[in-house]
Amino acid sequence: MCGIVAYVGQQEALPIIIKGLKRLEYRGYDSAGVALIDKRGLNVYKKKGKVSELENHLLGQGDLHSTIGIGHTRWATHGEPNDVNAHPHYSSSEKFAMIHNGIIENYDVLKTDLKNRGYTFQSETDSEVFMKFIEDIHKNNNCSLEEAVRLALHKVVGAYAIVIMNIEEPDTLIAARKGSPLVIGVGKNEYFLASDATPIIEYTNQVIYLDDYEIAVIRDGSLQIKTIENVETNPYINQLEMELEAIEKGGYEHFMLKEIFEQPRSIADCMRGRLDAKNGRLVLGGLRDYMNKFQNADRIIITACGTSWHAGLVAEYLFEEFARIPVEVEYASEFRYRNPVISEKDFVIAISQSGETADTLAAIELAKSKGATIFGVCNVVGSSIARATHAGSYTHAGPEIGVASTKAFTAQISVLTMMALMLGYQRGTLTESKYVQLLNELETIPGKVERTLKMNPNIEAISAEYKNARNFLYLGRGYNFPVALEGALKLKEISYIHAEGYPAAEMKHGPIALIDEEMPVVFIATKDNSYEKVVSNIQEVKARKGKIIAVVTEGDTVVRGMADHVLEVPDTAEAFVPLLSVIPLQILSYHIAVMRGCNVDQPRNLAKSVTVE
Ligand code: F6R
Repeated sequence: MCGIVAYVGQQEALPIIIKGLKRLEYRGYDSAGVALIDKRGLNVYKKKGKVSELENHLLGQGDLHSTIGIGHTRWATHGEPNDVNAHPHYSSSEKFAMIHNGIIENYDVLKTDLKNRGYTFQSETDSEVFMKFIEDIHKNNNCSLEEAVRLALHKVVGAYAIVIMNIEEPDTLIAARKGSPLVIGVGKNEYFLASDATPIIEYTNQVIYLDDYEIAVIRDGSLQIKTIENVETNPYINQLEMELEAIEKGGYEHFMLKEIFEQPRSIADCMRGRLDAKNGRLVLGGLRDYMNKFQNADRIIITACGTSWHAGLVAEYLFEEFARIPVEVEYASEFRYRNPVISEKDFVIAISQSGETADTLAAIELAKSKGATIFGVCNVVGSSIARATHAGSYTHAGPEIGVASTKAFTAQISVLTMMALMLGYQRGTLTESKYVQLLNELETIPGKVERTLKMNPNIEAISAEYKNARNFLYLGRGYNFPVALEGALKLKEISYIHAEGYPAAEMKHGPIALIDEEMPVVFIATKDNSYEKVVSNIQEVKARKGKIIAVVTEGDTVVRGMADHVLEVPDTAEAFVPLLSVIPLQILSYHIAVMRGCNVDQPRNLAKSVTVE
């Protein structure tokens, strides 16, 4: 939540920062701002709304030439979205300006103290308090700005990634992080700082992931990193593998549509080098050292939020079916505060696209403190969760820019499926022949997703019929129950239509009261163990005149005879159905949202990376 970008070097900073902010807009779009140092001094320009509003505002500011600058795109926490609460924030003297991603939990105490000593505040933000707190230390201790930052970081409680500029040192940026991400791109005599690598990739592929409690000082073309204990560190330079086109729309109207259509490739990428069905081999490098622990675990605990939690629910079915180990799937936000019973015999899997979700990170720390082994399933390479876990497997879905998660979900399920198959095979709960048969089937999934995507025009036509519905119900059983939850989440978050997902059989315990001719009900009724039961549920809805949209297995004639619309997915093993059945639901929510005029890539009030609890 909130995106930060900064640049210092020889190039014009403003275009680099504006482009970077646009790439980071998925992290928040309540306001945007930049600070630059030029002949006129250190100036802050900021505006409520998207980066494009800031661009318009900048047009009236004359020529803005600077080779150093900081920029911010905000997801509001403290204080409403307006110009004043936008970042950067000045110090009282206006000699310093700061951008901040995160939350300062003890800002109230700090603010009261500063106010008592004469400080005034323009905004309602914790970030302005943070800036002025640093300024106060700088003044009172008569120390350098970087020393003031270091001392301040010992006193603030919360999460932060910050970058500060100082009018008196126009070639210097000071940055620090704890809990919120910060990547440093290393160019030739130039440096790029950002919340993720997307603003950096077109300039350099050499990056440093700043660690918690580290301070980076870039001065006069050189970088120094030290801890807040003042110990200098030797940063490791990573090579980014991301391609520029992966973060561009590539001819699609929206990132979400592009990402839906990328799924045949992203699932194949996720399996590449891991699955070799011909030779009956499946290897997840990240699991190798932990297979023993995994195999002998008493219990698997999966923790995640949102869509990633839904992937965790699918994994519960997978692990219990194939490996016969009990699984618990926990909302990270509940788990972290529940005093859960965890031991060293538990194997904890944390799932996160961004790798930055605050609740998931806290759940990991808690489980770690109790001695459990933690395995991460993350998409963003080098992210905080990827680094906080003992081991992990990346999903390799590539950057997901649309706020609604699509390709990350199917990639997460792909990794979890491979983990469950490996585990079942090692534990002997899956026979060799069944294992090989499943590996062969898994290899066909990218092709089957491709076929499923061909329904796009058909789904678009159905969407036109239901775009004005006020409510939707999504029903599925077994492996398709989490898919029903995911379908409902996708619709509500981007179209703002109220939608609920339920296990189909639960309908008669309450939701059936909602059904009338106005209520579209999406059934996921593929041919599996619970097919007959779901067919009965469809009849119950039909008897009450509900409108039925059914996702069925290719060639199904029974449901076709009852439903108002059918969407066919290719036949596959029951355990792999979610990888196909979720696709039409993603497409349905996409078209409905577009037809309702919603901003599908940046839905209201949401942010891609939820770094606050
Ligand atoms: C929904 C969505 C969110 C995320 C959730 C967890 O489309 O994107 O529900 O799934 O905020 O985020 P990650 O996976 O980054 O931990």
